[in-house]
Amino acid sequence: MIKMNFENLIEKEIDEKRQGEALKITNNGDSPKKMYLESYGCQMNFSDSEIVASILTKEGFSTTSNIEEADLVFVNTCSIREKAEQTVRNRLKVYNTIKKKQNPGMIVGVLGCMAERLKEKFLEEEQLVDIVVGPDAYRDLPNLIKQVDDGRKAVNVILSKEETYAEINPVRLGGNGVTAFVSITRGCDNMCTFCVVPFTRGRERSRNPESIVAECKQLVADGYKEVTLLGQNVDSYLWFGGGPKKAFKSLSKKEQKESVNFAQLMEMVAKVSPELRIRFSTSNPQDMTNDVLHVMAKYENICNYIHLPVQSGNNRVLEMMNRGYTREEYLDRIESIKNIMPDCAISMDMISGFCTETDDEHKDTLDLMKKVKFDFGYMFKYSERPNTPAQKKWEDDVSEELKQKRLAEVIDLQMQHSLNRNEATIGKEYEILIEGESKKSKDKLFGRTKQNKVVVVDKANHKFGDYVNVLIEDCTAATLIGKAI
Ligand code: SAH
Ligand code: F3S
Repeated sequence: MIKMNFENLIEKEIDEKRQGEALKITNNGDSPKKMYLESYGCQMNFSDSEIVASILTKEGFSTTSNIEEADLVFVNTCSIREKAEQTVRNRLKVYNTIKKKQNPGMIVGVLGCMAERLKEKFLEEEQLVDIVVGPDAYRDLPNLIKQVDDGRKAVNVILSKEETYAEINPVRLGGNGVTAFVSITRGCDNMCTFCVVPFTRGRERSRNPESIVAECKQLVADGYKEVTLLGQNVDSYLWFGGGPKKAFKSLSKKEQKESVNFAQLMEMVAKVSPELRIRFSTSNPQDMTNDVLHVMAKYENICNYIHLPVQSGNNRVLEMMNRGYTREEYLDRIESIKNIMPDCAISMDMISGFCTETDDEHKDTLDLMKKVKFDFGYMFKYSERPNTPAQKKWEDDVSEELKQKRLAEVIDLQMQHSLNRNEATIGKEYEILIEGESKKSKDKLFGRTKQNKVVVVDKANHKFGDYVNVLIEDCTAATLIGKAI
């Protein structure tokens, strides 16, 4: 059972699939056109799909969760690993069958990172596809749809240095009405050598803080209780009036004075309402300052949980990955977190079997894990991505078998640590925010602690969005079992 949970976690990104749900919107026309949206990949993709839904809702489209009645079918895609792309290809086969048998008129659009990576080639490789749109071109969707209505295929994969969709109010899709994503930066300038994101999502840019605060205020007004601020590298958030990322040092005196960094932004969001919990993802060890940690410690409503991807515990591998920190610097960050917030939970991402990784270097990874004892982890086999620096420079020379073996060791160790960390919560009290029904029992609800641990409790009279104090009585490596107190 526990093992299964973990397998789920590893593939969380690509298995997490949400579909647009029917929206209660008023339409001027008699029978509005319906769109069906499916998202794969990171949280940013889910957030982007909500922006797409917003843009098309304004055009008179309504959303449906029934693909067979959809006029427009969009799949928001992920390129991070080969398997993620394969999942999308398999879905396209299913769409093809539906189009042939049940819904001949449907238009199929591909959004997101695969669209950006493959561009026009997508149209050649997948005959079914009518529209290919990259992550920065969603405002152009109404025009692209018109092109298809006129009988042409349509492509827009232009990346932008400014686009943040700042003022677009996302249509919340398939959510629980309690937690929401709010994007704060787009793109990534880090150029980790294994990663396709800088090529599919373009240059890093920060969103106007006023629009972020306004979105959070609206969410509070709509009854939401938690926001997750999203970016590939949230710690490098820096607002100085817009445009591609610049270093603080290179700003003019005036820009410096008026600029807003991540610690300041968090403070602004924390002040929106004490009832609104704040989370963020993803932190990058090279950019996370102690200022951020102090703001986290200062505000009760900022959750004490940090996702801090490490990728490897060996300095030579980290250098090849271009991660911008050493093992020692990473451990130093962990030290600071523990000093400033002793009860902060920490999770990681890890890659097993990167080019030229030796057994000893893999052991360094296990050793780092033993030093930190992460609460939680997302662990992957290295998957070579076309045109990344790693693919251009080095051979993907760790055999599949060895990657699998190393990954299994990393997962086994993480399971032990997760179990130990969870066991340490037994007998303690936590405040959880109720988010939904337990998947295993209709009589139970689940919520999360500030440390991002899932707690299952009896339903009693609790409602989604309630804060409930619980005593932890039992646990597995993935879940805590609690009792309301
Ligand atoms: N921006 C985040 C993560 C982006 S991708 C960061 O700062 O790290 C999410 C995770 O996918 C990464 O942390 C990494 O562990 C994994 N990943 C990225 N590219 C990969 C590849 N080519 N093969 C295997 N895993 C990869
Ligand atoms: Fe990828 Fe590294 Fe950016 S993992 S998203 S290039 S921080």
